Amino acid sequence: MKPIQVGLLGIGTVGSGTFEVLRRNQEEIQRRAGRPIQITMVADLDEARARQVVGSQAQVVTDARAVIANPEIDIVIELIGGYGIARQLVLEAIAAGKHVVTANKALLAVHGSEIFAAAHAKGVMVAFEAAVAGGIPIIKALREGLTANRIQWIAGIINGTTNFILSEMREKGLSFDTVLKEAQRLGYAEADPTFDIEGMDAAHKATIMSAIAFGIPVQFDQAYVEGITKLEAQDIRYAEQLGYRIKLLGIAKRAAQGVELRVHPCLIPAKRLIANVEGAMNAVVVQADAVGTTLYYGKGAGSEPTASAVVADLVDITRLHTADPLHRVPHLAFQPDSLSSLPILPMAQVVTSYYLRLRVADQAGVLAKVTGILAQADISIDAVLQREAGEGENQTDLIILTHDCAEQRMNQAMAEMQQLSTVLGPITRIRKEELN
Ligand code: NDP
Ligand code: HSE
Repeated sequence: MKPIQVGLLGIGTVGSGTFEVLRRNQEEIQRRAGRPIQITMVADLDEARARQVVGSQAQVVTDARAVIANPEIDIVIELIGGYGIARQLVLEAIAAGKHVVTANKALLAVHGSEIFAAAHAKGVMVAFEAAVAGGIPIIKALREGLTANRIQWIAGIINGTTNFILSEMREKGLSFDTVLKEAQRLGYAEADPTFDIEGMDAAHKATIMSAIAFGIPVQFDQAYVEGITKLEAQDIRYAEQLGYRIKLLGIAKRAAQGVELRVHPCLIPAKRLIANVEGAMNAVVVQADAVGTTLYYGKGAGSEPTASAVVADLVDITRLHTADPLHRVPHLAFQPDSLSSLPILPMAQVVTSYYLRLRVADQAGVLAKVTGILAQADISIDAVLQREAGEGENQTDLIILTHDCAEQRMNQAMAEMQQLSTVLGPITRIRKEELN
């Protein structure tokens, strides 16, 4: 039986895992796919390192275009990353009639529409299970397993690096920089780790999921993005006292007027399963009308967990070789001519609840003024925690949990509170999701 021949572009963390998993499990993978799948050609800038990984089992080149030009190659895997050369190579592979597998969420979140249109026109697949939540088959779950449902919202811990940082800081009291370096050493972080810590990577993934869940185009430029760099250890402690954990969540939610698409740190009740997802693990909660709530949990980053998803895509494409090309699963779950124009909502219109921390003067009437501003804005309070001022201290922290309100109203109330002479520093605001 003629093997499906695969060309691999970029053999770093995920590429080497992909090569190894395919080599180790080749017999079982062949039984599942119906044909042997072999990586026969690898391109990487570091030829010597690539050769160390593949030995004599594949041809190694430095020019990725030589792989695309090889007529024997059926599928091209892009594991270089970024929007630059990766975009050109993916489009060239499609133009050459190759199916493409990629783990590159940045590329798809920003240039997905162009890439999927090119693939559709050429009749090839672009498979990207590894692009969201690493080894968790969340794309397949959303696109196929939940296809009967009207999806209401998705909320996920979808960046392993930031979850690892938050967990290690909370559990071991380690510093942000120390844990980030460890995440880089373990191969979790992006080539540019600011993508992780500033929330961009999670927003890339949330953008892809929003498209699949709601049948809208990928619109990364409309996403609200806030990372974990401004989080302070004291807020993590106060949240715990109130029965919450702070996690970086990616949220895509169907609202009356459009779609909320946002990534930011979030208070989650500690009793929720997702609040207890630690380290580089990822978890995605999906709320849908027929099935109710489903939760998907697993390793969201790293060499072999991500390779697991890449190889699954190779098997899917291999199976397509015997199937009717007109009846393939659409890239974004909905048929390309049936995408909806549902808008992504501006953050001001998003409705959520809040944790506020105010540094205030420890004097009578402060609490009344603050709560008065909230009452005037029609923002109802859920809980208040006031830290006892220490001996000789004349200021203290005031923590307020609110019920739901529109972000615009909260912005106005915060601006008013900030003007009070008794509020002594910038107010910290973290959004809160009950996920019930
Ligand atoms: P790495 O940086 O480890 O690997 C990328 C490889 O591509 C490197 O070996 C690099 O060589 C090589 N490369 C760069 N430019 C070229 C080029 N023009 N031609 C050929 N090879 C090139 O990245 P990862 O494996 O971590 O990530 C790959 C992709 O997978 C990214 O899109 C990432 O976002 C995604 N991803 C990563 C996950 C992870 O856990 N790491 C999880 C899920 C997705 P050199 O080092 O010499 O520059
Ligand atoms: N940098 C990403 C993360 C890799 O930490 O989750 C997986 O997509």
